[in-house]
Amino acid sequence: EPRVFSGIQPTGIPHLGNYIGALQSWVQLQEQYNTVLYSIADLHSITVPQDPGTLRASILDMAACLLACGINPSKSCIFQQSQVTEHAELAWILSCLTSMPRLRHLPQWKVKSQTQRNEGSVGLFTYPVLQAADILLYRSTHVPVGDDQVQHLELTQDTARLFNRIYGDFFPIPRAIMSTSKKIRSLRDPSSKMSKSDPQKLATVRLTDTPEEIVVKFKKAVTDFTSEVTYDPEGRPGVSNLVAIDSALTGRGTEEIVQQSRGMDTSQYKLTVAQVVIHKLSPIREEMQRLQREQSYLREVLYQGAQRAQEMAAPVYDSVARMVGFR
Ligand code: TYM
Repeated sequence: EPRVFSGIQPTGIPHLGNYIGALQSWVQLQEQYNTVLYSIADLHSITVPQDPGTLRASILDMAACLLACGINPSKSCIFQQSQVTEHAELAWILSCLTSMPRLRHLPQWKVKSQTQRNEGSVGLFTYPVLQAADILLYRSTHVPVGDDQVQHLELTQDTARLFNRIYGDFFPIPRAIMSTSKKIRSLRDPSSKMSKSDPQKLATVRLTDTPEEIVVKFKKAVTDFTSEVTYDPEGRPGVSNLVAIDSALTGRGTEEIVQQSRGMDTSQYKLTVAQVVIHKLSPIREEMQRLQREQSYLREVLYQGAQRAQEMAAPVYDSVARMVGFR
């Protein structure tokens, strides 16, 4: 039986990359599969320091945001990772199957450890093992993620295979599901991905940005000195990123967009894309503002979600504990 699982860290409001790379397909998948789980990965978020009050608020904000994007709690199980304690328990078992060199090359560690004091925590280092545990705890088969999570998924697959070889066939090997625009780039520097932690304010479009903010960010988007609109992600990453955003949000193919944009220069096209984004994000922003005033409803959704997730997780963890020899 197919099971869909994915997660997002509650470290601030999601951006257009999160939406296009993940959230948009999360909404579609709940219509296609019976068992769908989306986790607010609070355990992952504390791998770098977080202020407790801010984290607490961000978890509810993320719940509001997921609902506002169209995740339906009667179809998908939305829950807070830390509330299902088996995530951490399975992560421990899997960490004992994972070698140090296997983790050293993974992107999260390579990038973030450099910006942390003392090279980063042990938790930051073993972050991908916890992610493998998230996925395997539900014996998940499909994992909708953006391009930057591919290596984490490969580790998950390797870990599942290794467990199966040592203890007997148990975990399905999960596959990534990726949207066609799998990597959205920074609007200020098209060589890097759009990210929540980018210090440049104009680089990242958040789902709660106002129409005015969106227009400014797209007007100032870095492109190049060619004025036509073409799609060439290698040669012209800046304008191609705009086409990719347009394509993901309107469903038009990149070729079609290029055809239909003949005669437009990139500065005109930037305004077109800004309008596409505004059109898509305005209802999400408004719904999110409404839901943020419904704190007890959000808590109830997360509580119910955690109950259902725990019911699925418990028998899997129980089997693992038996196979390992704990029971
Ligand atoms: P996170 O919170 O960084 O991002 C959430 C999702 O957004 C995608 N994404 C992007 N997609 C396209 N372009 C971008 N610029 C971009 N930036 C982010 C990510 O690929 C991701 O799908 N470790 C995960 C959270 C996690 C998880 C899991 C995911 C925890 N457990 C289990 C899948 C399965 C993370 O930090 O995502």
